[in-house]
Amino acid sequence: MEPPGTPPDAAALAKRYRAVRAASVALADPLSAEDCAIQSMPDASPAKWHLAHTTWYFETFVLESRAPGYRPFSPAFRVLFNSYYNSVGAQYARPDRGLLSRPSLAEIRDYREHVDRHLLAWLEHGDADATARHVLWLGTHHEQQHQELLLTDVKHLFGCNPLDPAYRETAARAVAPGDGTGPAQFLAFEGGAYEIGWSGSGFAFDNEGPRHRVWVEPFALASQPVTNREYIAFIDAGGYRDPGPWLADGWTAVQQRGWPAPHYWRQRGDRWWTLTLGGLREVAPDEPVTHVSFFEAEAYARWAGARLPTEAEWEIAARDVPVEGNFVESGALHPRPATAHGRRPAQLFGDVWEWTRSAYGPYPGFRAPEGALGEYNGKFMSGQLVLRGGSCATPADHVRASYRNFFYPDARWQFSGIRLAQDAGS
Ligand SMILES: [Fe+2]
Repeated sequence: MEPPGTPPDAAALAKRYRAVRAASVALADPLSAEDCAIQSMPDASPAKWHLAHTTWYFETFVLESRAPGYRPFSPAFRVLFNSYYNSVGAQYARPDRGLLSRPSLAEIRDYREHVDRHLLAWLEHGDADATARHVLWLGTHHEQQHQELLLTDVKHLFGCNPLDPAYRETAARAVAPGDGTGPAQFLAFEGGAYEIGWSGSGFAFDNEGPRHRVWVEPFALASQPVTNREYIAFIDAGGYRDPGPWLADGWTAVQQRGWPAPHYWRQRGDRWWTLTLGGLREVAPDEPVTHVSFFEAEAYARWAGARLPTEAEWEIAARDVPVEGNFVESGALHPRPATAHGRRPAQLFGDVWEWTRSAYGPYPGFRAPEGALGEYNGKFMSGQLVLRGGSCATPADHVRASYRNFFYPDARWQFSGIRLAQDAGS
């Protein structure tokens, strides 16, 4: 299957490459070498590994494959920074990435500069055909995915530290308790046949297509994500003590892990506080709840007499909504307070990834691309749920209505939140 989209020409691609590579380095700037080296859990990677692995992509899939005479920066990096590409060869064990005190952060920075220099020279030499440009284009979007992971992994690392470190003091300034916007309204959508999936000439991952028809029954989607105020009502009503609204696997997770609230939350007296990338802050009632698992999203929805949307419903509701949001470039690194209701759903993009009820699987007609990059998305289509919309840690030009993020149902370290749906007439 041909990859989607038409890659930019060499000059535009070089400009995008420079911007994305610089953004990764800038995200690591507030971090010490120690911050960059530690792995806080098997699902997270050290910042240093993110900086190296994104470079490995360009070295392996562009320079080594397509630039005659290129000499790798260090042959050992082929294994150390291979994430999961079996067709490239062996991989260093993912849960042990935090043991890699060598290479040093300084050496990783040298690695980045080496690859950047050679890659830009190769690109400017004019040797990149459309296929090569597509691989490079994909690499820039891959690096943006890792930029978000770098932030969420650092947040998880800091969440393990009783000092409650701030990634950036200015991030997520405390929000004064507002008057809120009241409960969400449910916006009605007609049932019928729709098309979903990526279309156009811009970038998309392979899993966003092929575009295809779906049938949906009439439904309603909430005008805004579930807020902390609403979620606290669920906690206060015994949401984490009553198995009633929980899926069986969700209730098992609550009991085995002792979840009392969203990740990063802690109670002081009758108030909730949470660690943000700007440090410890009191939970702001009007902001979307975040750092909840699919299990918690599902339990909340049942408790609230609603349900989660399917990914088709979400995309149908989002298709005419401009991609404007609270993305990482804003510097806030925290969800915005709920915004005023309109006739369209608000805060679909930016703020929090929204769990859907849809299992992550192939669209009709999907075939993974040939070669190593066929491993990019297709082999993960098992046991995960789709999230839509992008978060406050996502780069703005990395999100679109057809974008399919996916995580396991117990994952809580991403900026993941909840938007309710209802069947028509319920
Ligand atoms: Fe990766």
